[in-house]
Amino acid sequence: MTLTAQSTYFGHGGTHPYERSLLGGGALTLRAVGDTSVATTIMDVDRYAADADAADLSVIEHSVGAVIDLGCGPGRMVRAAIVSGRFALGIDVSATAVAMAHDSGLPVLRHDINDTLPLEGKWGTALLLDGNIGIGGDPHALLNRARLLVNPKGLVIVETSAADGEERCFLAEVRDRCGRSSGPFPWAQIGAGPLIRIAAELGLQVEACWSVGDEAEARKDVESEAEGGEDERGADGEGGGVRTFLALSA
Ligand SMILES: C[S@@+](CC[C@H](N)C(=O)[O-])C[C@H]1O[C@@H](n2cnc3c(N)ncnc32)[C@H](O)[C@@H]1O
Repeated sequence: MTLTAQSTYFGHGGTHPYERSLLGGGALTLRAVGDTSVATTIMDVDRYAADADAADLSVIEHSVGAVIDLGCGPGRMVRAAIVSGRFALGIDVSATAVAMAHDSGLPVLRHDINDTLPLEGKWGTALLLDGNIGIGGDPHALLNRARLLVNPKGLVIVETSAADGEERCFLAEVRDRCGRSSGPFPWAQIGAGPLIRIAAELGLQVEACWSVGDEAEARKDVESEAEGGEDERGADGEGGGVRTFLALSA
């Protein structure tokens, strides 16, 4: 697999704002190319390399068996799974994210999630977190791919968009704080309602649906938006305060 400036992966291409933010810090904004009806999403790249927070740890608590994190970034969830005593592996296409994970001693492989991966069909839990249901812009195909990685008793745990009914597939780009843009890539934002429907179409059952975070903080952000703040939201929700997850059984 070779990454070029024309790559269609999250944050790649252009002037490589994702790689630069991983190294230098700072948030990214994700926008739909040529569609102003989609709210700009703020992605807190610093958090990807930080320690797992309470919401992340709730995911580990709901997981079963060995954990594979799809689009793991620098490996926050891989570290959390290992610390909790699990066998875990991260997969990411970003050379910078994988190098950062290796510097921290974490087992992460540089692959597209559609490549042939180790232990296909044997993992206990596959993770798709922090916007990663967006990967490839086709949530149906992505969920199916994740399902094929886990064993018959396994789980796919997905972080949803906090806008419950949201279902958008679009061409996106990310931009860093200096205005440097990636190339366009296919992406999706899917709330719990549509995700449950897509899961049912694939024969997946909902084992659990839960939210973690600060409702008050989220409400404050939504109110400030209603009062004329910019039409922006955190990757983890409308206001960034509450994160919602679904555990689906294969
Ligand atoms: C929004 S970030 C989320 C990072 C991580 N899940 C976290 O919560 O810290 C998306 C990650 O998915 C990776 N990615 C995007 N498309 C991918 C693909 N097709 N295969 C593997 N990784 C991919 C990106 O390189 C990036 O690190």
